Amino acid sequence: MFSLEGHTAVVTGGASGIGRATARMLSGVGANVVVADIDEEAGVRVAEELRASGTGARFVRTDVSEASDVDVMVESATGQFGSIEILMHFAGVGMERHALDTSREEWDRIIAVNLTGSFLVMQAAGAVMVEAGYGRIVSMASAAGERGGTGRTAYGASKGGVAAMTRVMAMEWARHGVTVNTLAPGAIDTALVKKMHDAETRRAYLQSIPMDRYGVPDEVAAAAVYLALPGSSYITGVTFPVDGGFISSGVIKRD
Ligand SMILES: NC(=O)c1ccc[n+]([C@@H]2O[C@H](COP(=O)([O-])OP(=O)(O)OC[C@H]3O[C@@H](n4cnc5c(N)ncnc54)[C@H](O)[C@@H]3O)[C@@H](O)[C@H]2O)c1
Repeated sequence: MFSLEGHTAVVTGGASGIGRATARMLSGVGANVVVADIDEEAGVRVAEELRASGTGARFVRTDVSEASDVDVMVESATGQFGSIEILMHFAGVGMERHALDTSREEWDRIIAVNLTGSFLVMQAAGAVMVEAGYGRIVSMASAAGERGGTGRTAYGASKGGVAAMTRVMAMEWARHGVTVNTLAPGAIDTALVKKMHDAETRRAYLQSIPMDRYGVPDEVAAAAVYLALPGSSYITGVTFPVDGGFISSGVIKRD
C-alpha cells in the first residue's frame, strides 16, 4: 500500500517547486521518475540527483503545450521503463492580472500551457494507463480555480478547466483501473509565487489562510504521493485542497 517500488512516474514541471519536491518524494519511496520540463538545465540536475539516490530517473525536455513534445516524452518514458503507472502533471505558468488588463496574448499563453497542456499530457499518459488497466493521474488545479480571487481571470479559468477535465477523465477511465484526481493548492512558496504575489497580495492572502502561513512544496508533494499509491484505489474525480484551510474558510477572527 505504501511502496512505489518498480512503478514509473512522469512528473511534468519536475525541474522546480512542487514538481521537484514530488519527484524527490516519489524516488524516496522507490519509483523511477521521468522529469519532463521546459527548463533543461534544472531538469537534468534533478534527474542526476535522483539517479545518485539509487532509483531510475531521466530528464526529457518537454513543452507541455506542444503535442509532438508530449508524444516523444511519453514514448521515451515507456521505451526506457516499460510503462507509466503514475502521472504527476504539474507544469504550469502563473500571472496576476485584472480582467480589463489581460491581453489576448496573455490569455492564450496561460490557456495553452495550463489547460491545453493538461489535456495533451493527461490524454497521452492516460492512453498508456487505460491500455495497461492501471494508473494514477494527479493533475494540478489551484485554489484560484475554486475561488474568485482578484487578478486571476486567465489563471483561474485555466485551473477551473483542469478540475473539470480531471472529473470527466476520472469518470471515463474509472472502469479501467485509472484514478484521476487534482490538487488545489493555496499559496505555496515557490518560484512561481515569488513572481506572481506582490507584497499586497501576500498580506491579503495571509489574512484569509487559517494556518497563517504559506505552504511549502513538500506539503503538496505528500498529498500527491498519497494519491499515487496503490492504496488510494477508491479515490477518483476529487479536487484535493492543500491550502492551510483557505478554501474551507469563512470569517476568521485572529484573537
Ligand atoms: N505555488 C503555488 O502557490 C501554487 C498554487 C496553486 C497551484 N500551483 C500550480 O502548481 C504547479 C507547479 O507550480 P510551482 O509553484 O511549483 O511553480 P514553479 O515555477 O516552481 O514550477 C513550474 C515548473 O513548470 C515548468 N514549466 C512551465 N511552463 C512549461 C511548459 N510549457 N512545459 C513544460 N514545463 C513547463 C517550469 O519550467 C517549472 O519547472 C503549477 O501548475 C502551478 O500553477 C502552484
